Amino acid sequence: MHGSEELRFRHHQADEVTAIVQLFASVFAASAGEAEGALIGGLAEKLFTTTDASDLFNLVAVDDGGVVASLFFSRLHVSDESEVFILGPVAVQTDRQGEGIGRALITHGLADLVSRGVQAVLTYGDPKFYGKVGFRQLSPTVIKAPFQLSQPEGWLGQSLVEHAIESLSGQCRCVDALNDPAFW
Ligand SMILES: CC(C)(COP(=O)(O)OP(=O)(O)OC[C@H]1O[C@@H](n2cnc3c(N)ncnc32)[C@H](O)[C@@H]1OP(=O)(O)O)[C@@H](O)C(=O)NCCC(=O)NCCS
Repeated sequence: MHGSEELRFRHHQADEVTAIVQLFASVFAASAGEAEGALIGGLAEKLFTTTDASDLFNLVAVDDGGVVASLFFSRLHVSDESEVFILGPVAVQTDRQGEGIGRALITHGLADLVSRGVQAVLTYGDPKFYGKVGFRQLSPTVIKAPFQLSQPEGWLGQSLVEHAIESLSGQCRCVDALNDPAFW
């Protein structure tokens, strides 16, 4: 029996990039099929190789065997005055899912964003899962997604500061790696 208490949560190191890309490819292949594994593995690689360092954070959960989970936050440009990031993708090693690792990794990541003065974080995914770590459905009058969404109910966000996320509005621009309708 594994336990999440043996894990360490921290930013990724440069020599972990290949393992992280493989983690995303294998986890999404197992959960959604080979094509999705290739798509999300490719996304992870492109996020690392094409995004400015100031626009990207990757967090990992590691044990003595290496990386068991990882997530990305990338900058979402809403206005020149706001600091907004989007969470995703997230992956927990297939045989370690359901142990609380995903929740713990995201919780560490949100605390990291708060310490950097980020005002709000968005994501696009399953409201049931992300609702457990503070995300709520965004009304269409709040930030508009970069592309038409195939699952509008998955457009989620939370404020990390005192004022409500509704203070943000308008179209946003994502980083190049996410700027592809295949992900929306
Ligand atoms: C989705 C994923 C990141 C969740 O991580 P995890 O470590 O397995 O989840 P946790 O054990 O931390 O679960 C946290 C809570 O969310 C719930 N949950 C987990 N996966 C869920 C899902 N797919 N749908 C709904 N709820 C889910 C758990 O029941 C748990 O609730 P509880 O604390 O009230 O019991 C992980 O299962 C995964 O990598 N899945 C495949 C890839 C994927 O779908 N990534 C997310 C989209 S980018």
